[in-house]
Amino acid sequence: MSSPEAKRLKPNSDNMSGPKAIYDAATSSNFELYKSDHAASISDISSYWSELANSKLDWYAPFPNAVSGSFEDGSVSWFAGGKINVCYNAVDRYCNAPYNRGGETAIIWEGDEPTDTKYITYLELQNNVCRVANALKASGVSKGDVVTLYMPMIPELTYTMLACARIGAVHSVIFAGFSADAIADRIEGAKSKWVVTASAGKRGGRDLPLKNICDAAVKKERCVGIVEKVFVFDGMVPNGSGWIEEDIHVRFSDLVDCQRPVCPCEWMDAEDPLFILYTSGSTGKPKGLVHTTGGYALYAMHTTAKSFGIAQQTGPSNGNAPVYACVADAGWITGHTYIVYGPLLNGISTFMFESTPMYPDCGRYWDMVQRHKISVFYTAPTAIRSLMRFGDEAPKKYDLSSLKVLGTVGEPINPAAWQWYYELIGNSKCAVVDTYWQTETGGHVITNLPGVTPMKPGSCTLPCYGIEVIVLDPVTGKEITETEAEGVLVIKQPWPGMARTCLGDHQRYLNVYMKPYPGYYFAGDGCRRDEHGFIWITGRVDDVLNVSGHRIGTAEVESALVAHPAVAQAAVVGIPHEIKGQGICCFTTLAEGFAESDELVKELRNAVRTHIGPFATPDMIIPTSALPMTRSGKIMRRILRKIAAGELDTLGDTSTLLDPSVVGTLSEKVEKLR
Ligand code: WTA
Repeated sequence: MSSPEAKRLKPNSDNMSGPKAIYDAATSSNFELYKSDHAASISDISSYWSELANSKLDWYAPFPNAVSGSFEDGSVSWFAGGKINVCYNAVDRYCNAPYNRGGETAIIWEGDEPTDTKYITYLELQNNVCRVANALKASGVSKGDVVTLYMPMIPELTYTMLACARIGAVHSVIFAGFSADAIADRIEGAKSKWVVTASAGKRGGRDLPLKNICDAAVKKERCVGIVEKVFVFDGMVPNGSGWIEEDIHVRFSDLVDCQRPVCPCEWMDAEDPLFILYTSGSTGKPKGLVHTTGGYALYAMHTTAKSFGIAQQTGPSNGNAPVYACVADAGWITGHTYIVYGPLLNGISTFMFESTPMYPDCGRYWDMVQRHKISVFYTAPTAIRSLMRFGDEAPKKYDLSSLKVLGTVGEPINPAAWQWYYELIGNSKCAVVDTYWQTETGGHVITNLPGVTPMKPGSCTLPCYGIEVIVLDPVTGKEITETEAEGVLVIKQPWPGMARTCLGDHQRYLNVYMKPYPGYYFAGDGCRRDEHGFIWITGRVDDVLNVSGHRIGTAEVESALVAHPAVAQAAVVGIPHEIKGQGICCFTTLAEGFAESDELVKELRNAVRTHIGPFATPDMIIPTSALPMTRSGKIMRRILRKIAAGELDTLGDTSTLLDPSVVGTLSEKVEKLR
């Protein structure tokens, strides 16, 4: 392990006192303190979280009990009976005494063009949120209504999310990469009467026709009669007039502009829903996870502070405030928790980035770090890998000395990417926090803490405070008590940020998360625990792919394919992909009368883009006359995964196949496409 190459490939996985360079300021005393604090936090979750809830959040009425209910019954609740408003806690309280941070920056917005930046203070944020809230109210939106947001990464997105929270409406944000079909499914699923969009967005120098896509969704039969109004922010595109043809549209920028900047907060029960966020699962239908108010707010606030080493800002800035930048999209959970709610609940400034890491060139992130003096930078391994391809030149051009903490999220980070991030971006001085969590968990559940936990590249390390992580034997369902273990990852006790249900389908929530291993929350991931008790995520154990950090259900892609008349059967599997982590490989048999052709492959690729969105574009589509089936008629996906990855030597038993010759035929087709 002494050569630099060996260090790169297998850094510090076998010896915690390994290369000095990958220790951040973690000292053994901090680490020891973490261990005892963590043990205390899980020995009495009720006092741990109630003390924090009381000291970190402002309540309108106190909560009688911290936690009740159980995983098994799907009845967990936190702080029920307490009254609170998340927008008040994230915005208003910082404008008032004793915080007096009205004049401090709340949002740094960086548009598609690097020259297009805005600084929005807490006071401006409060005024803007109130205007949007009043505009929604004036249009008939009321407490408990679901408001669907399909928006670019502009400050208005944050205003609208917070305005919903302010008036007690439930936001359902849809990532702006989803297609009209996907939007329509989500509008229908949430029975959402209200939709907020923008005339267009901008990304990488191109216009995103968001309103047109939204219109196509709203016009679909399944949405007709559900949607009452589509509010369109149109300020961002000059000459955007001429598009209001239907009485369903509201020119929202105008309506917002003429509202008062004052709007009272609706005091919500801690267990009232705050938002819905759809995510992929093992079936074709995405599930709308419901997050509630008090518990989510506390969890977002607490994990932001702990994982990134940030202190809540309790007074005017003394010049030492962190410049925090999470460059995710607010359409995913990372954006909800670590762009909008977590940072603002801590009174720090947050960063909204409209563009891509490649625009106008591959130095964009580092240019932003230099210009804004970013101290905490949070991105995904897929972005790091794609930037690494361009070499070390771009980051070396910029002054990155403001950086203190670097974060990654969404998938395991491979050691080479970790090392590049750590050495080149962090100048071997910053902590790299590898945050493991899910849409369902609301916030980080396993991560190293800067200056506290020793790092191991590729390991998300140890559980967050209040989280009891267990490794189960997947067959017996028993806890593995030995330190070294390999199995499925579960969580043993409730935590405030957990999703409470799947919208309209509590049974599905129970079946997916609570029933597989009764008494535990089942995350759907496999993991290994090493000799020091550090966790290494090995990936999903269900039919969910992780493509560039985006969760995509194989069943969703399959249902998009079989909706095409040419497709008789479809089987979708993941393939290893150098940049994206996983790619999408589709095998299809064709209906009678259809022949294999390049044209057809193109059509099928488009079918997936239309049904889900461009981010789900398949990497390989392989039409075939037969799939590997068992004699009882089941498609053998295990075999397809091996064929797709070109791992024929570890194919395993094929004797149960109806026709073993399909293996050879399919492998040849895969090889040709490689
Ligand atoms: C994966 C994203 C390894 C995991 C926040 C999980 C990770 C899924 C990590 C959730 C990580 C997320 N290391 N794997 N640090 N973070 N994952 O709901 O498989 O979009 O179940 O939430 O991403 O994806 P989701």
